[in-house]
Amino acid sequence: MRHARTMEAKVKKEDLFSPQGHTDRPELPERPRRGPAPDADSLLRSPLGPYVLNRLPADLAAVTQGRSTYEQLAAEQCRVLRAAGAEDGPLATDPSTAPLVQLDLLFMLNGYLPAGPTAFPRPLLAALAAQCDRYPSLDPHMSYELLIDVNCAEWETTGHIRVFSDGDLGRLEGDFYLGHHLAEPAVRGAFDRVSSLVLEPHAVDPAAALEEARRGLDDFRRYMAQYGRLPREAFQAFRPYHMGHPGGARGASGAFMPSVQLLELALLAPTALYELYLDQSLAYFPAWSRPVVSEWRERSRDGGNLVQAVLDGRLKPDRRAAVALLGVIDTFVDFRMVHLGVTRKAIPEAFERSARPTRQSILAQGGERDFLGGAGPGDGRGDELGTSGFSVHHVLTNAVHRLLTARRRVAETLGPTVTE
Ligand code: HEM
Repeated sequence: MRHARTMEAKVKKEDLFSPQGHTDRPELPERPRRGPAPDADSLLRSPLGPYVLNRLPADLAAVTQGRSTYEQLAAEQCRVLRAAGAEDGPLATDPSTAPLVQLDLLFMLNGYLPAGPTAFPRPLLAALAAQCDRYPSLDPHMSYELLIDVNCAEWETTGHIRVFSDGDLGRLEGDFYLGHHLAEPAVRGAFDRVSSLVLEPHAVDPAAALEEARRGLDDFRRYMAQYGRLPREAFQAFRPYHMGHPGGARGASGAFMPSVQLLELALLAPTALYELYLDQSLAYFPAWSRPVVSEWRERSRDGGNLVQAVLDGRLKPDRRAAVALLGVIDTFVDFRMVHLGVTRKAIPEAFERSARPTRQSILAQGGERDFLGGAGPGDGRGDELGTSGFSVHHVLTNAVHRLLTARRRVAETLGPTVTE
């Protein structure tokens, strides 16, 4: 059964996490040997696809529930790898399918993360190493680009999405990835509007551009709100497969979704701690975005951002544009506050039990906090590390703090007629 490239259009944000679901995952045939598929079916573009899509989630559930062991899992996967031809060289035979094969290898590898890296089977590491040697531009770890962009592009073409969890939990996990993919264009559109105003202030109608940016951000915020429907148990089921380990790479995280950070850079100058965040994150952003983030970071640091333009008087917005600018910042804050609320529900141990972060409490914290110095998971100090390896609480409240601080300065500059 072939799905057209219209899957994306068919799934609305309201469908995400709905009990009925929306993606169907027909069983895939096994293709034991490498080589061109007779019908060049896109379903079979990765020789590991049938295993990862059809069997891995149930295998991992069996290990989690004590019906199987990691040793048995490794033995089965070694058979799958052998049958796929991993002993003969890199599994991907051409660059166009290499990212998908890499994704499959990393889904298999990350399945061992709850047991720690010592459980990684050698033949799996060897297959990954052979791929990386042959295709050096591929991320050697489960990156945001592979997990979200490659995984969801494949879903758009075939209707299949890779997940770790089995059954209903797996459908919710698929929506977790899909929602990121479907939401990003909305914030990307907001960045496009704001950046055009920074780059060509005279060629753009500021009020119209900012109103459109605000609408895009509002759409983005509504995607985020939809995640309130994701049960904690579903999130907790797949989270262990994305947690990093000492000495290993950072895990995939929304922290590495590029358009959000691009929008922030086009809006306001990076603070010292935000620069540190970008230093630590750049290698984990999708490859296409790394030079763009670097370019905007430099530009923004040198004053090429909207807030600085207003503070310096280079941009003098009329009342409508000024209201729209504050609306953009407010809606960005709303997104981040909704995100905080959803994250607090999903990872309560990362937050102090009695204190719900509010705009007021975040502004009152007086500055950004050290997001690299988090203590161990579950220590109850409210600085638990996320899959990115950053302190969940501090990285999220810092992000709100920067926007609120910038908003206050803009509002002071624009004066009471706008802010009343
Ligand atoms: C249940 C849903 C979600 C949870 C529990 C969650 C959790 C987290 C956590 C813990 C972080 C801190 C960094 C880390 O991962 O270690 C983070 C960062 C981030 N997440 Fe999420 N996330 C969720 C959904 C989303 C969605 C749907 C988006 C975007 C559409 C998103 C975008 C971001 C961004 C942009 C950051 C970096 C901080 C910022 O710039 O605001 N997240 N997320």
